Amino acid sequence: MVLKIVLILSLLVLVAVATLYVLIFVKGKKRVRIAFDKEYEKIRAKDYPPAFPNGWFSLGESSMVKKGEVVEVDAFGQKLAVFRGQNGEVGVLDVYCPHLNANLADGCVKGNNLVCPFHAWEFKTNGKCAHIPYADKVPHNAETKGWTVKEDWGLILVWYHSEGEAPSWTTDGCVPEVADYKFHLKTSDVLRIHLQDFAENGADYAHFAYVHDLLTIPWAHHIVDVKHTLNIQFGEGEKKHTAWFTDQADLVWKKSGKLIPHAGGHATVTYYGPGFLVFRFNTEIGKMLLVKTFTPLGPLKVKMEDYVYAPKSTWKIAVKYLLGEASAQFHDDIAIWEKKNFAARPVLVKGDGPIMKMRAWYSQFYSQKGDWAKHAHAAVAVLPVNEN
Ligand code: FES
Ligand SMILES: [Fe+2]
Repeated sequence: MVLKIVLILSLLVLVAVATLYVLIFVKGKKRVRIAFDKEYEKIRAKDYPPAFPNGWFSLGESSMVKKGEVVEVDAFGQKLAVFRGQNGEVGVLDVYCPHLNANLADGCVKGNNLVCPFHAWEFKTNGKCAHIPYADKVPHNAETKGWTVKEDWGLILVWYHSEGEAPSWTTDGCVPEVADYKFHLKTSDVLRIHLQDFAENGADYAHFAYVHDLLTIPWAHHIVDVKHTLNIQFGEGEKKHTAWFTDQADLVWKKSGKLIPHAGGHATVTYYGPGFLVFRFNTEIGKMLLVKTFTPLGPLKVKMEDYVYAPKSTWKIAVKYLLGEASAQFHDDIAIWEKKNFAARPVLVKGDGPIMKMRAWYSQFYSQKGDWAKHAHAAVAVLPVNEN
């Protein structure tokens, strides 16, 4: 009889654990996909700042192009030829050959140069033509644009500047953990958003209570609440391209409002220009590092890739859970951003968070001048620093 009860109880526990596993890890929280109307998208994009702010951006993993290979990549509303010479150096060129505009990504690598598939002109990583097989001289204007490239964190990074200016900051030393942490996985998605909306998220304190107050553990929201304590700081001088956002998320009992010990987590999010965010999660169940890259493909079209790392001591299931929680929160944000447009003069109240300060900070990434920057600077000038 006792054995029977033990067996039945074990079975029930097993079913409960399996159900929770499916609900948390398999079912997860899927992102809502919307069918987009191209004409409406144009209207929605109209008031946003320029689609391509200045900064370092990822084109993808270094492993996408091996020695002697060339691939075609979309970024900044155009196509790029990304190749790797026999010396291991990566070159990124505007894809159309200056001769008769063949697609250089269909060519091949010879030594350290890229050879056009049409008439075999050879191009160096700086975009200059090195050799024309059937001519003695190479004209001085035989060149395509060679992008400023560097490889960091296992990614191919390029510097984009709308006026063609040289890099004003470096990605060196931004994510030292990458050397020691274990790489877990990569995710990739294309979002119909403007990059700036993602940045404004950290300064928009009021939305946390309405968008991010639930856990992915089923039914948990009937018993517990998540309390966020938020702060954001903006870099100055040599660090002016960075900003730091912190979120202490504590769990409290719904009924009493009392803190549940050892249940919360802390996240520090560092913005490195408009193209990268690095999330550092520190929780009771382990640490996790998320390198989030944004590559603008066109107006309201952004490729977002996540590279997930954790210290070797963090359990895989803990990483899975933390990533599930983080992704669920992003999905809730994205559902809103993909249907909003941009107000240069939003109506803000006390408690909204330093949204206009964030806009003023972000405006350094645009060479162009527009309402989005003018109103942000004006608003920051008249409000105390820690207010709206
Ligand atoms: S089009 Fe490239 S060499 Fe002629
Ligand atoms: Fe959010």
